[in-house]
Amino acid sequence: MRPLAIAHGGAAAPAGFRDGTERAARAAFDLLLAGGSALDAAVLGATLLEDDPRFNAGTGSNLRFDGRTIEMDASLMDSEGTFGAVIGLKRAKNPILVARDVTRTPHLMLSGEGAVLFARRMGHADYDPLTARAVEKHRRAIEKWKALREGAPATGEGDPHPGWLGCDPRLYWNFPEEFRAGDTIGVVARDSLGRFAVTNSTGGTALMLHGRVGDSPIFGAGLYAGPAGAVAATGEGEEIVRRLLCYEVYRRIEGGAPAEEACRAELERFPDRIAVGLIAADRNGAWGGSHREMPFSVVDAST
Ligand code: GLY
Repeated sequence: MRPLAIAHGGAAAPAGFRDGTERAARAAFDLLLAGGSALDAAVLGATLLEDDPRFNAGTGSNLRFDGRTIEMDASLMDSEGTFGAVIGLKRAKNPILVARDVTRTPHLMLSGEGAVLFARRMGHADYDPLTARAVEKHRRAIEKWKALREGAPATGEGDPHPGWLGCDPRLYWNFPEEFRAGDTIGVVARDSLGRFAVTNSTGGTALMLHGRVGDSPIFGAGLYAGPAGAVAATGEGEEIVRRLLCYEVYRRIEGGAPAEEACRAELERFPDRIAVGLIAADRNGAWGGSHREMPFSVVDAST
């Protein structure tokens, strides 16, 4: 089968960041050409996107509501049955590599402090993924949230989850400090043996409580891979989990729909105010799209 790699930089991320997704997809594709597995390629692509501070994953991850905390989720899956995820991981450079290490254990997922201690045990050094860009992005998200609560019209760009509009976070504040007050990366690869793999990594969405988990590490919601293809989702995690989005896309592909048709049909299940995007590969091709701007790149022998 012809190898192929597709990488995205998150629903609602600027399309101008496409050079980053192109670099990740190209590196994944080159590894596939050199005989690497779909899983190795998808992990490599995700690592490069985590290291690019423009994307909300690894270095550059979003801050939580308190403006101090960063908790990252990452996951991987392939058509051979491999699955591993970390949830709420703190202070690590490449969460996707920690998720890969989870696949060496009998478990599927590790979270919170256990995930951090596991990362250190596996040799992942203490690392602060905070960037000045993430601080500025958080400041804008808080301003936007306040404006929306005061009646400003939603624009769809950088809007917090609608659930926060009629909701006072002080009621649910679970950070150690007093109240002071979307997007993700993903890679899908298909190797020459026809195996599929998918990786996800994220700092979450805008405005999150401590411990909040989105779709990215959730099997069937933020990612799915099987013998017919692989799918990664980006956008408002709660909405993606409710619709078990990636599994539903996969089921359509398995039933014979091309990746584009399967993705478009599932994207239509989301109201326009919810940011969501997908990348997917089937046996014949690949597709990516979102109803927001979303940088993504497909690399195969024809590109
Ligand atoms: N899609 C990323 C998140 O909601 O956490």
